[in-house]
Amino acid sequence: MCGIIGYAGLSPALPYLLKGLEQLEYRGYDSAGVAVMDGGGARVVKSVGSTSRLKEKVSGQTFTGGLGIGHTRWATHGGVSEENAHPQSAGPLYIVHNGIVENERVLREELQSRGAVFFSETDTETIVHLVHRAMEEGKSFPESVRSVLPLLEGAYSFLMAHADPAEPLVAVHRGAPLLLGSCSHGVFVASDMTAFPGEVHSMIPLEVDDMVLIRCDGRFEILSLDDRRERKPEPIRRNPYAVHGKGEFSHYMFKEICEQPAMLDRILASRIRREEERLSVCFSPDAEKVLSGVRRIRIVGCGTSYHAGLFGKYRIESLAGIPVEVDIASEFRYRDPVLDPASDLLVALTQSGETADTLAALRMARDAGVPTLALVNAEGSTAAREADATILLDAGPEFGVAATKTFLSQIALLTLIGLYLASDDRLREREGKSREEILSDFLKIPALLDKALSLSAGVIDIARSLGEVSTVLFMGRGGDFPLALEGALKLKEISYIHAEGYAGGELKHGPLALVEKGTPVISLLSPDEKLILKMVSNMKETLSRGAFLISIGSERHQEEFSSVSSMSLALPDCPPLFFPLVSAVPLQLMAYHTACFRGLDVDRPRNLAKSVTVE
Ligand code: F6R
Repeated sequence: MCGIIGYAGLSPALPYLLKGLEQLEYRGYDSAGVAVMDGGGARVVKSVGSTSRLKEKVSGQTFTGGLGIGHTRWATHGGVSEENAHPQSAGPLYIVHNGIVENERVLREELQSRGAVFFSETDTETIVHLVHRAMEEGKSFPESVRSVLPLLEGAYSFLMAHADPAEPLVAVHRGAPLLLGSCSHGVFVASDMTAFPGEVHSMIPLEVDDMVLIRCDGRFEILSLDDRRERKPEPIRRNPYAVHGKGEFSHYMFKEICEQPAMLDRILASRIRREEERLSVCFSPDAEKVLSGVRRIRIVGCGTSYHAGLFGKYRIESLAGIPVEVDIASEFRYRDPVLDPASDLLVALTQSGETADTLAALRMARDAGVPTLALVNAEGSTAAREADATILLDAGPEFGVAATKTFLSQIALLTLIGLYLASDDRLREREGKSREEILSDFLKIPALLDKALSLSAGVIDIARSLGEVSTVLFMGRGGDFPLALEGALKLKEISYIHAEGYAGGELKHGPLALVEKGTPVISLLSPDEKLILKMVSNMKETLSRGAFLISIGSERHQEEFSSVSSMSLALPDCPPLFFPLVSAVPLQLMAYHTACFRGLDVDRPRNLAKSVTVE
């Protein structure tokens, strides 16, 4: 993971580096650092924690140099410490690095046996020592960088600067994203375009094996490992919903939860078309092309995106009658999935579009000749560029590390895909309604999300009751099962309370042993006549073992579930098809308020990062 940024130009580099690092913190915030080539040599400042700590450290100092590199870290090799913060250095060279050098141990031992002295536990330091050694053997700085690349195993990118500002800034892409952006005063290179200032209007996404030499006069040269490469700049389209800052909200996560009604309204307005008073679902021509004639869907994703994928399986199989398999991307890529280019469509779910395992799964499918569709939030991300077709989540930027609105967007879009692929007859048979009626129901859901948000007093009471507990179980059946998994993930990742999600019928196959007097069990109850009584039975099974039952269901069934629960939340009634979209809101709020009661850093949970670019 980690975020890297470099600048070479006519303006002082430091303010751009610091601003860019703030934007890149979603990739990690264990430590931050910069190196600026300031005439007489390099000036390096590093600090543990986020960029704000780094800013405090540099305040009052003047850095005039126009060439510099910066880094925000998510620790992989070595603990969180100033020694392990980047930039790392050897001789006159300074490096910031994203990704992993897998053969680091062998390289380190070999370098040490020849006298290199290491100051950190990072894999990064091996790279800079190798380049330094190559320079000592007489090669130029760029030649030295190029010469060590074949020795490094893994997926990574790095920026390397020389203390002499007459030397170029060298950028290397070997599997972790890197973008080049230029403007009138210089050239930027960063892990993500959000790190570029507003004056950068076009960018070049670098490709694997690109090496770029960037000079302060604005010239740059893109080289591959063996030849010169031409690249065309692309205009940068800034996201129109990119409202930065938390506004009146206490946290990004809370703001993002509250944005969901408007977001869903926007998504439905753009995906549900009205023609001559008939409603239908539409996607881009590319997406409709890959969806047409599909006979089996393979969904891959990680974390929250994987849970959204599971929800998609329930909806697409039942609405469209098309088999759907869902895999955790890191498992898919290392087993031998049987892929059939004639029938399969691989759907990659990824908010960031940069998750290493999801990208690997997408590439595997592509290499097997299977068409690919990416559901991504980050326009211009690697997944969006590499898939045959893309459906944008259109959630607007998500800054809170916990995925909230992007999850809702994913499950809404997967439901729309199910409706798009379904025949009219099947819809009538399964849902008892016409497509028209179902889509009209869907259009009413954003207003119900608003109502769900307004139930915050009840949610806060539940959150208060969870403040001191050590384990929480979530359960649900049907489309509520993936929601139970997601509810548990949200709670554990930001409140650090151990939580697990189960299918309602599964509890008695083992997890029930965890239930003792007072163990909170949160039940999700979509208003599905087939499942509701089964759920109530499962709830009673936990109750007789002493569980503290909390239930979230619809007003229609309030009687049934509140009579057996210690606490309950009755959400506005709606068709079971859409109910999990509404119940996602109190689940997110519950996790949020619980973490707030525990005094935790909601937007930046410990050990995590927003974009997981290592496997
Ligand atoms: C949890 C969370 C993560 C991500 C996962 C995949 O709140 O955000 O579990 O869902 O890291 O990320 P993307 O969707 O960017 O591939």
